[in-house]
Amino acid sequence: MEHGEQVRLLKELRQKLDDGVNVDAGIMLKNPASTYTCPDMASKEWETFFRDYPQVIGLSGDLPEPNSFVTVDDFGVSVVATRDEEGNFKAFLNSCRHRGAMVEPARKGRKKIFSCPFHAWTYSTSGDLVAIPEPEHFGEIDKSCHGLIELPAVEKYGFLFVHPKPGGVIDADALLGGLAPEFASWRCSML
Ligand code: FES
Repeated sequence: MEHGEQVRLLKELRQKLDDGVNVDAGIMLKNPASTYTCPDMASKEWETFFRDYPQVIGLSGDLPEPNSFVTVDDFGVSVVATRDEEGNFKAFLNSCRHRGAMVEPARKGRKKIFSCPFHAWTYSTSGDLVAIPEPEHFGEIDKSCHGLIELPAVEKYGFLFVHPKPGGVIDADALLGGLAPEFASWRCSML
């Protein structure tokens, strides 16, 4: 937070302490109980805010070096996020392109390849399908078309943003609204 804004807020708080008052909305708001119990609203909320909305899955420091990874299962699909060999932040559906088995069950770690536990198709941290053991069992396969399905991923202000849908859009500055400079000042990329 900028120093001037810190000083302004602290002065405002101190004044409230001196005056013995608190901050409130000035009115009493009522919320119907159905807001918390309606299954239709819960379903809409899940679809809108979790399945179809950019999510912060961690900080840059959660992927500290090339070939480190984390997995997340909070959005209805399993996601594997990586820092690839070149240091780029990437995210993919954690699902093999052969029969959909989860390719990486661990929460976090470091490895150069993800090997599917079913038939050992192997993917790089860039999501490329790099090896198919005993390829004669699978027929003619163009490996360049069968990498892990990539998800939109943006690393900004030290935060890792992922959209759980392949065609989703991430505009980190729009998401943060006027708070982008605030987030930048936290220097989370240094953590
Ligand atoms: S399901 Fe992954 S290799 Fe067959």
